[in-house]
Amino acid sequence: MSAYQTDVGPRTAVVTGVGSRRGIGYATAKRFAEEGWAVAGLDLDTDAVTAAMDQIGTDHGVPTLAHRVDVTDESSVREAMGSLRQSDLPPLGALANIAGVPSPVPFLEVSAELWHRVLDINLTGTFLMCREALPAMIDGGYGRIVNMSSVSAQMGGGVFSKTPYSAAKAGVLGLTRSLAREMAEHGITVNAVSPGIVDTDIRAGATNEEDEARLSATVPLRRQATAGDIAALVVFLSSADAAYITGGTHNINGGSYIA
Ligand SMILES: NC(=O)c1ccc[n+]([C@@H]2O[C@H](COP(=O)([O-])OP(=O)(O)OC[C@H]3O[C@@H](n4cnc5c(N)ncnc54)[C@H](O)[C@@H]3O)[C@@H](O)[C@H]2O)c1
Repeated sequence: MSAYQTDVGPRTAVVTGVGSRRGIGYATAKRFAEEGWAVAGLDLDTDAVTAAMDQIGTDHGVPTLAHRVDVTDESSVREAMGSLRQSDLPPLGALANIAGVPSPVPFLEVSAELWHRVLDINLTGTFLMCREALPAMIDGGYGRIVNMSSVSAQMGGGVFSKTPYSAAKAGVLGLTRSLAREMAEHGITVNAVSPGIVDTDIRAGATNEEDEARLSATVPLRRQATAGDIAALVVFLSSADAAYITGGTHNINGGSYIA
């Protein structure tokens, strides 16, 4: 058994937000596949999710499934998870809730619509995915959930995103801690990963090269994380070796926030 696999035989990892090629979701799906997991990738963008999972399946020879999902929409989440149940992939073992959006808008300009959208995608989406995934994990005797927070939740924003994002990502920490306590009797772990600045396309169009260099210079380790840095932590937290780690906020920020 590889250190990064389960101790109950083959399992499928569900990863949301895999459509962005330079993103954390794609890197996480790829890392799960490298470790021998079957992977179901979900994203809002149908073409992108299909291409991403084709690539990962071809490169790593593991069973894959691609499905569109809007994580904010209960019926879409149900349909996507239903397609996994009807597939011949192994039972569900891990869920990585990676899909998310930033919100660099100053507070006095935040519309109620923007507020709801940012909370819906980052927080309600995580809730809906967890609720839909957990019955299969309980039945299957193995479960790991990893939710994506952000250093923004802990530091009061400031790096790039502002209030709705910080509130949503802080909500993810509360959801994670409470769900970890509730699921412990089933041996299911629930953890949050809290990255600092990661070199992906999430800030595309909002920052230029100079801004990005300035952001990197604020990090004690003097670089942004790669998506692969974050993926390695998510996949470790999904492994059998991480069985006693639950309810945690796992900082991965190059020293930007040391608590
Ligand atoms: N990049 C960073 O600096 C950074 C730092 C801390 C936390 N994060 C968090 O990590 C996660 C991934 O960030 P990233 O940088 O890879 O972002 P990204 O923009 O590269 O990818 C996000 C993906 O989520 C998908 N998505 C958006 N809305 C969706 C919806 N409603 N349903 C399903 N999929 C949806 C997008 O299509 C996209 O593929 C996010 O939750 C983000 O908040 C990122």
